[in-house]
Amino acid sequence: MGFKRGISSLLFIVPVVLGLVPPQKRATCPDGVHSAANAQCCSLFQVRDDLLNNLFENECGDEAHGALRLLFHDAIGFDPKIGGGGADGSIAIFNSTELTFPANAGIDDILDVLGPFLLKWEHVMSPGDFIQFAGVLSLVNCPGAPKVKFAMGRPPPKAASPPNLVPNPFDSVPTILSRFGSVGFSPEEVVALLSSHSVAGADDVDPSIPGTPFDSTPAVFDTQFFVDVQMRGTLFTGTGGNQGEVESAIKGTLRLQSDHELARDSATDCIWQSFVNNQSKMQTEFGAALFKMSLLGQNSASLIDCSDVIPQPLSFTGSATFPPTLSHADVEQACATSSFPNLPTQPGPPLVVPPM
Ligand code: HEM
Ligand SMILES: *[C@@H]1O[C@H](CO)[C@@H](O)[C@H](O)[C@H]1NC(C)=O
Ligand SMILES: *[C@@H]1O[C@H](CO)[C@@H](O)[C@H](O)[C@H]1NC(C)=O
Repeated sequence: MGFKRGISSLLFIVPVVLGLVPPQKRATCPDGVHSAANAQCCSLFQVRDDLLNNLFENECGDEAHGALRLLFHDAIGFDPKIGGGGADGSIAIFNSTELTFPANAGIDDILDVLGPFLLKWEHVMSPGDFIQFAGVLSLVNCPGAPKVKFAMGRPPPKAASPPNLVPNPFDSVPTILSRFGSVGFSPEEVVALLSSHSVAGADDVDPSIPGTPFDSTPAVFDTQFFVDVQMRGTLFTGTGGNQGEVESAIKGTLRLQSDHELARDSATDCIWQSFVNNQSKMQTEFGAALFKMSLLGQNSASLIDCSDVIPQPLSFTGSATFPPTLSHADVEQACATSSFPNLPTQPGPPLVVPPM
């Protein structure tokens, strides 16, 4: 008897462990159109559609880039010793404090456009949920981006984040890795998170050239960023000499000192190189690390999984290249154990990347 019971409970457990049990039936939402595994997620479809159409205007552009950076600057405002609420929306609600932090320069621009949407939907979502939701949705129109999970249920923020928790582009690699390490991110996860700079640029590092991208393809979530930053720097697009900026290889782009050093420091150089032309690695590791970031300072056990509200982002099938006129000889090889992949050089004259 006992033996038989043992077997049958084993038979019950095995399919669950292997993920063979069919998913729970999805609840049809009151709108009669959508369905969600958890009915509490139904109210998010209208917010999603509003943000995709009216905030991001179905583009991987300025607002999308701003919302992705905002997700990070809200979430990283947490430290197990110093305090802060992490991904709690404090950057919006306590903006009069947090926007004075130098590392949050330029965050006012995205808060100005995102703030009215946050208020419009405050009866549906808390500020912390809203900022993480907008950040994940910002990727939907960026070809090549992963579908990132989203969880809902963060309580309202209690206070502003303490200062000095957001990394600066002039911080050293040890400083950056220890800041991320204090909230549980490995060097591999830090580099994975910097995939975000594939769909990004700067307004305030060199204020004479606002909207200058970090790589040659700022509207595509591709590995070109990891190539472009590894090329020997030879020029400044703007004035040069700005804090946190070093020479880039491509006219029209701006290279952050922090990205440059993470690509060359022995703690991270081989990790950096491993992302070159590996789109699926970039998607998998960035997606997992971004979701982990969205839980900083939060009690994940009390959140509901609403990932089925997130659409699959546009796909990307291209591959990485050396920019026109540049070749393997222009790579500033850093990883000591394997050489940088050889890539085809794009045809044509030297690239001049337009502002975003
Ligand atoms: C070492 C860590 C990091 C540093 C030092 C850093 C620094 C910066 C700086 C200086 C800018 C330009 C701001 C401006 O002048 O407009 C920027 C832009 C951006 N960052 Fe980061 N960042 C880091 C990590 C991250 C992470 C982890 C994410 C997201 C997961 C992220 C997402 C973005 C995005 C999307 C932009 C573009 C914003 C826009 O174009 O409006 N960054 N970052
Ligand atoms: C800052 O927060 C206040 C409310 O605390 C709000 O009225 C204002 O619009 C916010 N500003 C931005 C830029 O979000
Ligand atoms: C891409 O990265 C994955 C995960 O690290 C690795 O297993 C795979 O071999 C890589 N693919 C290529 C073509 O380098």
